[in-house]
Amino acid sequence: MDFPDARTITTGQFEWHDAQVVVTGGAGFVGSYLVEDLLAAGARVRVVDDLSSGTLANLSHVQNDIEFISLDLTDRESAAKAISGCNVVFHLAAKAFGMLYSMAHNFEALRDNVLMALNVLDGCRVHDVSRVLMVSSSCVYDDDAPIPTPELAVHLGRPESVNEGYGWGKRILEIQSRYAYEQFGIPISIVRPFNAYGGRYVWQGDASHVVPSLVKKVLDRNGPVVVWGSGKQVRDLLHARDFALGFRLAMESTVDCNPVNLAGGTTVRLDDLVMRIGELIGVEPEIRFDKEKAEGRARKEADLTELGLRIPQFRQTVSLTDGLLDMIEWYNRNSVAGAFGS
Ligand SMILES: NC(=O)c1ccc[n+]([C@@H]2O[C@H](COP(=O)([O-])OP(=O)(O)OC[C@H]3O[C@@H](n4cnc5c(N)ncnc54)[C@H](O)[C@@H]3O)[C@@H](O)[C@H]2O)c1
Repeated sequence: MDFPDARTITTGQFEWHDAQVVVTGGAGFVGSYLVEDLLAAGARVRVVDDLSSGTLANLSHVQNDIEFISLDLTDRESAAKAISGCNVVFHLAAKAFGMLYSMAHNFEALRDNVLMALNVLDGCRVHDVSRVLMVSSSCVYDDDAPIPTPELAVHLGRPESVNEGYGWGKRILEIQSRYAYEQFGIPISIVRPFNAYGGRYVWQGDASHVVPSLVKKVLDRNGPVVVWGSGKQVRDLLHARDFALGFRLAMESTVDCNPVNLAGGTTVRLDDLVMRIGELIGVEPEIRFDKEKAEGRARKEADLTELGLRIPQFRQTVSLTDGLLDMIEWYNRNSVAGAFGS
């Protein structure tokens, strides 16, 4: 699918041609779009990823334009090596899965996400990096957070209950960033993305995120589409390509370590989303609601006031319809190749 040229959207506050950039997690879903965006902006890009959930296939079209290093960022020396020789770091690498897997793996999510953030920030200190973007998450917010949710402080309540270990990991990432910013003077930007969707998502069975899971269920046409919980849950969706754009703009302009929500203002109910995917492929899916499964938060919706004030250049460039068509096209192409199993 051809999307509008995001390169024309810039704050004009940063010269990418002078940048030697590291993207951790650059072989992942959002990371691969970011790599593309940065190359188009003129940066030299190194991708660091252990390929535990990402894939080099996401980077095949830019493989001759990037440096790729496979290593595990939970290891301190490896993380320092990853950053050596670079002056700008985007830290996206994470253990980030759908809620069924997440609820059963709080320990690993907390351990790996905290270790990676700590090692990356320490590497930035050692190598005197001039700018860093740390990717947090909307999962830092309490289940009872106000809707729409503004940039609440990370010590309020507990993180989202179905992603608690992951949410604590992201809260600690923000606190680690604050200390690195205050103590070492490293300019740091923190973003809190809401729900990403789009082509290049690697489906991981029950560990998948909600939107890709629903797309796969509708496209597989294996009987009724099972939606966990009531189906009335509302999610705030943004195409991964627009998250990448938001990450670049945040790095260009807001390196004061104050977190900013990132979303496009497109909210949708999950049962409506299933019907919309069906419409796009010309079927009317039968939905079955599995009330035994966790519902997650009833409504996730970002308050975008701060985003508008701090990064006024940011806008959603991919509509929900185009984004879903992109996901459908990508799924069809890759499932023919047998990439996703049943
Ligand atoms: N996808 C979403 O809806 C969403 C929402 C909020 C925040 N985020 C955050 O955005 C970032 C990107 O998310 P994504 O959806 O692209 O996830 P992803 O799983 O596709 O990408 C993460 C990448 O990190 C790599 N990685 C994991 N552990 C590693 C390790 N120990 N060493 C090196 N690399 C490692 C994986 O192989 C993968 O390529 C993450 O920080 C995630 O927490 C995502």
